[in-house]
Amino acid sequence: MKKAEDLRSARWFAPDNLRGFGHRSRIMQMGYAPADWAGKPIIAIINTWSDINPCHAHFKTRVEDVKRGVLQAGGFPLELPALSLSENFVKPTTMLYRNMLAMETEELIRSHPVDGVVLMGGCDKTTPGLLLGAISAGLPAIYIPAGPMLRGNWHGKVLGSGSDAWKFWDDRRAGIISDQDWQGVEGGIARSHGHCMTMGTASTMTGVAEAIGMTLPGASSIPAPDANHIRMCSASGRRIVEMVWEDMVPRQILTRGAFDNAVTVAMAMGCSTNAVIHMIAMARRAGHDLTLDDFDRASRKVPVIANVRPTGDKYLMEDFFYAGGLPALMRKLGSLLSLDERTVNGRTLGENIQDAACHNDDVIRDTDNPIYPEGALAVLKGNLSTEGCVIKPCAMESRLMKHIGRAIVFDDYPSLKEVIDSDDFDVTADDILILRNAGPQGGPGMPEWGMLPIPGKLVKQGVRDMLRISDARMSGTSYGACILHVSPEAFVGGTLAFVHTGDQIAVDVAERKLDLLVSADELERRRQQWTPPERKFERGYGWMFAQHILQADKGCDFDYLETSFGRSPGEPAIY
Ligand code: FES
Repeated sequence: MKKAEDLRSARWFAPDNLRGFGHRSRIMQMGYAPADWAGKPIIAIINTWSDINPCHAHFKTRVEDVKRGVLQAGGFPLELPALSLSENFVKPTTMLYRNMLAMETEELIRSHPVDGVVLMGGCDKTTPGLLLGAISAGLPAIYIPAGPMLRGNWHGKVLGSGSDAWKFWDDRRAGIISDQDWQGVEGGIARSHGHCMTMGTASTMTGVAEAIGMTLPGASSIPAPDANHIRMCSASGRRIVEMVWEDMVPRQILTRGAFDNAVTVAMAMGCSTNAVIHMIAMARRAGHDLTLDDFDRASRKVPVIANVRPTGDKYLMEDFFYAGGLPALMRKLGSLLSLDERTVNGRTLGENIQDAACHNDDVIRDTDNPIYPEGALAVLKGNLSTEGCVIKPCAMESRLMKHIGRAIVFDDYPSLKEVIDSDDFDVTADDILILRNAGPQGGPGMPEWGMLPIPGKLVKQGVRDMLRISDARMSGTSYGACILHVSPEAFVGGTLAFVHTGDQIAVDVAERKLDLLVSADELERRRQQWTPPERKFERGYGWMFAQHILQADKGCDFDYLETSFGRSPGEPAIY
């Protein structure tokens, strides 16, 4: 147990010298007295609230609940705002800024007089961004997930974030619904604060945060407007103070076993494809070489048991919570998990879930009655992606699992948009659409363009799925036969750069193969003729991003953030 004089914050506030005077006099300027801070753990609450993040709208008041908990436990809370990364409003893509949030989080922790951290996030990139920073900072940290919003509703129909937007958009393009219907969907699909309530990236990553042990048990499933969410916030505030005294730091929690658990849980949840990138980055920061192969191995043995859209066909996160939430899902996974891993509440995962009950076996299925018999994702490799790429077999039409088709190639999104809805576009449902130069460096930032729209003339014929390949990502709420994150990306000279319209491409999901059916000699000839595209940013953050971003199979961290600078992996810097 730590003593008051051991607190990191005491280095700012305790010394009887001129610097100590400066720190004390300036905190007193805000109306605080020594009774507020002296001998108490100072808790940073890193809050990603902003006026333009609807998923975090409730954080403005929830932060007061966290503070209440910190005060109850004898700590001193300080709110530190951070980049809010609203998925809907940040262009070109929040992925461009995940690492910026990670750096901001690490530096907020490093530079301020704090002993422990509460991280408040939920909208897609905020969970990995905050956790990446906290892992590297190494102080005691607990994660508070924003919680999913309530189910959408339009004319009594349940609407799911993202998934129903894509579905009704195609219906509108096909003339199945009217403009007025579309406006009804627009007003009903997001009707409370909280993050997307399908099993998109937000629900996946908050679930991952819980599975690796960084949240209180059950925290990730609670809908944002539920009073349980308020109580979870104050409980997290109380717990972080105890964690400071116990000196429980992330590296004690984030073992290899914890990440393996998270991979298993992600597969069973029917996770977002984006989870792969974020989890690899987080594991590497914690000193574990998690790879695409680990996901594929888990995929072959872990069934999808969360019947939550878009992988499931019926339910949303609100139903998942009522059915028992993540603890119930993890209990059903049982021996597939390593139950001895510690979590932020000081207990093991096994202890946390031993009494978790499932209240609806259709929402959270048993492993012998799954939604999909294998895991959510498959990793494909071949001459078109030597380092690997990802597809979501559980959310695509099975006729496309083994397929050879003609490539139709687009070098950028504007040129795709120009022709995609044209009746003259020479395309059939058996063709394979390709978008390149949309990867980590090419995007830059891997925008979520990977669910390429089905060509308008095919939509009118009733086609709703076809093979699509890109080095981009897709939204976790998306679905379809989309092969994503092709590594190495086209922009750095991956084989994707050398595909010509008319080439044949072979996909075999069962065999995990993706090949361009062009001879090695011809590929080499094309490689010799290739010139790299121009970079899009000549200065600033975008320029720096493109210089240092790692490929998708390595988690898209910055190369210099992974470096441990002489420390053991996961060991915190001495601040
Ligand atoms: Fe924030 Fe989907 S827009 S989670």
